[in-house]
Amino acid sequence: MQKFMGWVDARFPATKVWNEHIAEYYAPKNFNFWYFFGSLAMLVLVNQLLTGIWLTMHYNPSAEGAFASVEYIMRDVPYGWLLRYMHSTGASAFFLVIYLHMFRAMLYGSYRKPRELVWLFGMVIFVLLMAEAFMGYLLPWGNMSYWGAQVIINLFLAVPYFGEDLVQWIRGDYLISGATLTRFFALHVVALPIALLLMVFLHIVALHAVGSNNPDGVEIKKNKDENGIPKDGIPFHPYYTVKDILGVAGFLFLFCMVIFFFPEGGGYFLEPPNFTPADNLKTPEHIAPVWYFTPFYSVLRAVPDMALGVVAMGLSIVVLFLMPWLDRSPVKSIRYKGWIYKTGLFLFVVSFVILGYLGMKPPSDLFTLIARICTVYYFFYFLLFLPFYHLFDKTKPVPERVTH
Ligand code: HEM
Repeated sequence: MQKFMGWVDARFPATKVWNEHIAEYYAPKNFNFWYFFGSLAMLVLVNQLLTGIWLTMHYNPSAEGAFASVEYIMRDVPYGWLLRYMHSTGASAFFLVIYLHMFRAMLYGSYRKPRELVWLFGMVIFVLLMAEAFMGYLLPWGNMSYWGAQVIINLFLAVPYFGEDLVQWIRGDYLISGATLTRFFALHVVALPIALLLMVFLHIVALHAVGSNNPDGVEIKKNKDENGIPKDGIPFHPYYTVKDILGVAGFLFLFCMVIFFFPEGGGYFLEPPNFTPADNLKTPEHIAPVWYFTPFYSVLRAVPDMALGVVAMGLSIVVLFLMPWLDRSPVKSIRYKGWIYKTGLFLFVVSFVILGYLGMKPPSDLFTLIARICTVYYFFYFLLFLPFYHLFDKTKPVPERVTH
């Protein structure tokens, strides 16, 4: 084995890469529960890629054949139902994991200097992931696929002057048709996965260049021993490979439970209208995107003017990109921040969840009012609270070394 590795290393830096990024990558020793979600995101990404490849072997990307081919996968292809549920439930799992992963960054200020690029690459991943999920949703060619795509593609009508042409260009037709389906298929199975993989690679390269943050928000590289090893660091392998296996086991337990017992997630993971084929003469009673889009969809609906609503929805994602520069606190981790920040973040989470809930419900006067209040708070949080809370918030002294 040693001889073989010597031969490889003379031609390719296998051992060097293994050591730099795994065996001798020193991660802070105080990672907690919240640090499970990066490796889980990778696991779900691999799950989506593999199950996606196998689904593609049996799926027919045409308006005439798509719906029937999905039924064929569910009924006739050996274990086809399992592949499809792993993929469709995997999409929801992906967003759940990513939302928790992003929330961790908010808890511990992981987006702050020097990790701005880690966050920005992450945000590009998030946008790509939304595009990937949106395009994938059209592929089963169910009635919600069709009408959901209709609503979202029509949002581009809000673009002044070019709107109509732009929408036609996206659809490839005067209405959503087989042409739209095949281009979404190409983007969903080839272009976007490649872009996602590239961005995940850059995300990890950027992270490893600066090193991981941790629940104390202390930079472990500032305290090194005589060998140049961070005193509060432990090698990623075996310590965190073992820890991550625990996370994987816990995740798979829940994931299998959903796949085998609640694959439709009560209509939240697979929506009821999608069990009937696309019909451009029959609008589903209530069109709502899948749960992971609904906080942003609520922002759209909360604004009375459609064009402004689209701008607000766009801005609700743009502000996330700006987080590293909006937050001005001298302290990174929530552990050493005061009650003002804690309350602000808590209310942000509450309003985000309420927006998500309301986005799934048919609108009513009361719901619209609540959605407007939450939307105002959402923007208040990013544009006024984050830049200025440090002027009022009382922080605690940050220790030199990580606490355990
Ligand atoms: C396919 C999606 C993604 C994958 C596979 C992924 C993977 C990872 C991994 C393996 C880590 C290191 C382990 C950890 O800290 O949990 C990490 C760290 C991080 N990720 Fe992601 N990530 C993804 C998406 C995102 C997104 C959407 C964001 C935010 C916009 C983000 C922001 C961060 C930040 C700030 C860190 C550093 C955390 C720290 O050091 O405290 N990631 N990511």
